Amino acid sequence: MTQAFMKGIALSALCLGIFVSSCSDSEQAVFTASDWPAYGGQNNGNRYSTLTQVNRANVSRLKPAWQFNMDDAGASQTQPIVVGGVVYGLTPTLDVIALNGASGELLWSFSGLDGPSYFKGPSRGLSMWKNGDKEILFVGLVDKLIAIDPDNGELVAEFGDDGVLDLRTGLPGDTSRFYVSLSSPGVIYRDTIIVGFRTAESPPAAPGDIRAFDVRTGKLVWSFHTIPAAGEFGADTWPENARATQGGANAWAGFALDEERGIVYVPTGSAVPDFFGGERAGDNLFANSLIALDATTGERIWHFQAVRHDIWDRDFPAPPSLVTVQREGKAIDAVAQTSKQGYVYLFNRVTGESLFPIGERTASPSSIAEEQTATSQPMPTAPEPFARQTLTADMLTTRSPEMNDWAREQFSNFISAGQFVPFSTKQPTVVFPGFDGGAEWGGAAIDPGRGIIYINSNDIAWTGALAASPDGMGFAEALYQAQCAVCHGVDKQGAPPEFPALINAPESLSPEDVRNIIRRGIGRMPGFPALAPEAVDGLTDLVLNPESARSSSSQEDSVPSSSSAGSDVPYRFTGYHRFLDPDGYPAVAPPWGTLNAIDLNTGEYLWKVPFGEHPELKAQGLETTGSENYGGPVLTASGLLFIGATLFDRKFRAYDAATGELLWEYEMPYSGMATPAVYMVDGRQYIVIATSNSRNRRAPQGSAYIAFALPE
Ligand code: HEC
Repeated sequence: MTQAFMKGIALSALCLGIFVSSCSDSEQAVFTASDWPAYGGQNNGNRYSTLTQVNRANVSRLKPAWQFNMDDAGASQTQPIVVGGVVYGLTPTLDVIALNGASGELLWSFSGLDGPSYFKGPSRGLSMWKNGDKEILFVGLVDKLIAIDPDNGELVAEFGDDGVLDLRTGLPGDTSRFYVSLSSPGVIYRDTIIVGFRTAESPPAAPGDIRAFDVRTGKLVWSFHTIPAAGEFGADTWPENARATQGGANAWAGFALDEERGIVYVPTGSAVPDFFGGERAGDNLFANSLIALDATTGERIWHFQAVRHDIWDRDFPAPPSLVTVQREGKAIDAVAQTSKQGYVYLFNRVTGESLFPIGERTASPSSIAEEQTATSQPMPTAPEPFARQTLTADMLTTRSPEMNDWAREQFSNFISAGQFVPFSTKQPTVVFPGFDGGAEWGGAAIDPGRGIIYINSNDIAWTGALAASPDGMGFAEALYQAQCAVCHGVDKQGAPPEFPALINAPESLSPEDVRNIIRRGIGRMPGFPALAPEAVDGLTDLVLNPESARSSSSQEDSVPSSSSAGSDVPYRFTGYHRFLDPDGYPAVAPPWGTLNAIDLNTGEYLWKVPFGEHPELKAQGLETTGSENYGGPVLTASGLLFIGATLFDRKFRAYDAATGELLWEYEMPYSGMATPAVYMVDGRQYIVIATSNSRNRRAPQGSAYIAFALPE
């Protein structure tokens, strides 16, 4: 039994429950081991269940118990929460749903957002506040935080504005300019909900303030400035007045909370714009940092910045996890954080001291005069990275001699020198592991008693480059290059399937659709509320009628820089490019995805296996390629690691957590691009996962929650 669990029991006489939060001064939450009451399972981010009904001996008999189909074909990345036998989740178009955990029957649904799918996802989880008999369900619907009565799906009128809180509340300046979206849920601490948000990747973007709101009223309780105000600690790592002029350094991946100590751990992403820092000279605290905040006041206790003056979009991509490790016979409460580069950081939870040595590596300067890179970057020395670090010619694809030749030829044009190499305007630079990690948003699973962390990782190369923004472009084209090219490419070819090409926009898109998409965002695309109506019209025309847009772009309507929302940034990123071979497979040698078990007491790997398949390659005998994967694992006390996540094979798998042996797998209709949840109803254990195929456009589209259990 874990320490946290034991403490829970010790307190239970007082508070009548197990996973008790802060019950000493209020009649607080009473969740049981049958529940999965928070994103990550518990607020500690362990993705761990004490349930043991499904075990190594019987897991081979696991079967779907129910499937809840959703009409929407978009992505569902939601890890549901489960309280009292009810599964709370979201559909791809962000309807909130409550399902009977035993049957999958729909109990209620809430369609909070008017206007159709432009608002859609991701919203990766939900939060439940519970006090005695009172429960409130909190859900992020893009730029709104809503409070729902979990009994009937109705808004809780006392919270915010009739149950709805605008997530721009408390942000500085003219907040209507900002796109914000609660893509990962808030964490409940006592009577507050603590939230971050996702924002735009180019200016204007909101500064990533971390805020706590009162769960009953929606009133702002505290706010921590990840871009410090003048006079605050870290303000000297930015140009003057940074809070008004800069954005990002936001926490989009979620948090971990030490309930007993009242400390919330906040992982942040890069400052905006992602790839050019010429206008934000300095280290840019608290971007790319793990920050420990007093959960009652929002005051900083300690922080660690993993990337100084980030110009590679190396956000912390996953919520942290709490763990207790043994060092020289002593138990140390620690917090683990994974990174896109493939590092696991481990810190003393109270002092912030790193429990593995972190070295410094001299970093090369940028070839762009306006860019001042940090002279050195922190480099963890242990554990070994869980993804490969520097691509060399002998690591290229061996699928066939022809492909190897092709890859070598391409590779000879790239800069490849590992981490922290500034992008160039002359040649593409290899980003390895790629922009999608290493680790991603699914998070890690923790064996809290043993101090073991389980991490799924991507392991493919991408490339990136910069281009100077040319003068004299037409208004719409210049805006496109400044605001859209980062994802849809300078040539509008995108990087399908995630980033669609815009050269042949689907005929089904009407001008009104495109205007809505640009204003409000869709899926992974942020909205651009700061753009003036003429700008939105110009871009719409550019997307739908490229020819006429080009001919009308004369000199006289070239970019008015003040109103053009960031189009005056002198360098732009030319687009996210996976390094793929002509058949569309990664041009690096496999494994392209891995599953890793690392002992955090020692930093040693217990095991590492290729993770995921490309079914058609498997049919040709290439079985252990691994594949890209999104969504995380969960661990049960019976020693089973459950994970979907693999992009192409649509399998849900159970591994022996001790050895990495695959014990069971099941092919689902759609991929499990989400982290599962584990719960029990009426004595039966279930493992539920959201599935969808939107990342794999060649597969039949659809989405469903699927719950697995042993046959009755
Ligand atoms: C941060 C990345 C990103 C940026 C910046 C971005 N987009 Fe997108 N865009 C996407 C993604 C991802 C999708 C697909 C979303 C989905 O369907 O889930 C998309 C979809 C679209 C679509 C719908 C295309 C289709 O095939 O359905 C249009 C139109 C579009 N974007 C236009 C723009 C314009 C114009 C801009 C600049 C103002 C822009 N985008 C900026 C990522 C981005």
